[in-house]
Amino acid sequence: MTYRSGRHFLQIPGPTNVPDRVLRAIDMPTMDHRGPEFGKLGLEILAGLREVFQSRQAVIIYPASGTGAWEAALVNTLSPGDRVLMFETGQFATLWSKMAGRLGLTVEIVPTDWRRGVDPALVEAKLKEDREHTIRAVCVVHNETSTGVTSRIAAVRAAIDAAGHPALYMVDTISSLASIDYRHDEWGVDVTVAGSQKGLMLPPGLSFNCVGDKALAAAKSARLPKSYWSWDEMLASNKTGYFPYTPATNLLYGLREALAMLREEGLQNVFTRHARHAEATRRAVRAWGLEVLCANPTEYSNSLTAVMMPQGHDADALRKIILEAYDMSLGTGLGQLAGKIFRIGHLGDFNDLALAGTLAGVEMGLTLAGVPHQKGGVQAAMDYLGECARGGAARKAA
Ligand SMILES: Cc1ncc(COP(=O)(O)O)c(C=O)c1O
Repeated sequence: MTYRSGRHFLQIPGPTNVPDRVLRAIDMPTMDHRGPEFGKLGLEILAGLREVFQSRQAVIIYPASGTGAWEAALVNTLSPGDRVLMFETGQFATLWSKMAGRLGLTVEIVPTDWRRGVDPALVEAKLKEDREHTIRAVCVVHNETSTGVTSRIAAVRAAIDAAGHPALYMVDTISSLASIDYRHDEWGVDVTVAGSQKGLMLPPGLSFNCVGDKALAAAKSARLPKSYWSWDEMLASNKTGYFPYTPATNLLYGLREALAMLREEGLQNVFTRHARHAEATRRAVRAWGLEVLCANPTEYSNSLTAVMMPQGHDADALRKIILEAYDMSLGTGLGQLAGKIFRIGHLGDFNDLALAGTLAGVEMGLTLAGVPHQKGGVQAAMDYLGECARGGAARKAA
């Protein structure tokens, strides 16, 4: 059997389901990226992205996955041997720190149990210890996609300020941008890293840096080698909407459409929708008698929920059964969480019924796989979604 009727449920926490409007926008003839039309496209997209970053500062677009934008953030601002403070909140924070080490930076990594976010008090303490100000950057993953934990970016900013420390502040928003409220300017972030394949509803292949003035100033004296990732040539070409090398033209068509869709829905409504789906998912998990990995309720992720398996049951066996029986992909446990958790992605182009279908797939899969649980998770989620819909209807009527 090769054809499976109905739509595959891609409920991993990115890449996410690409909406038809975006797919249709991508499916257009590639244009001359040095021609007159392209400059307009480039300028429109750069302005639209600034709205999503909630920033007035420079945005850079790379034809690369998110990992490229991590590298760009580091090599444009830092020099060999510079100290960077990082927090091992999960697999992605770990990978970013390994990259920093490979680039020749001196990484100070603060461990966690992979169940909570960055502790702002610890940031303040670490920076206060550094009286000589040798730490050049503090790097934080906003939403740790491997654990479903969202660090408090504004509180970390306040901690850096309370320590009176001049380090640059870099934040990875690869699985939070356009899903969870994020404010580059207001939260005093110097470099934000983002990717196309999650909240922005695009296929993988684009990534971004949003760059503040302090980071641009640091770039003037940064000595790590760079060429492809260099901000200066990019910023010079971007002034007129062009790029120094061939951009991913068709993905940019898709990005223009995705930005229009986010504007039509309204960014605040997008955040509220993600919060609603996350809460409904957690209610389902609790009703099943299972545990959410994130240990701190103020750090629950609105993009995804990581669910712990009961002792003696393998998360990947459950995922395999769900894929085969119900044509739904769920996120695997990464690194030290392999086999112990599965992750439900509820970000991107998503609605209440898609969530209900997702949770039904999980509940049926738990039964099929013989994983001990209680019934009623989907019902608990539906009850909550119903309450929200009634609240919304009442507000509209008032
Ligand atoms: C938080 C976070 N950072 C970084 C990455 C790496 O991005 P990419 O796989 O697009 O290179 C991911 C990928 O899922 C991620 O979720």
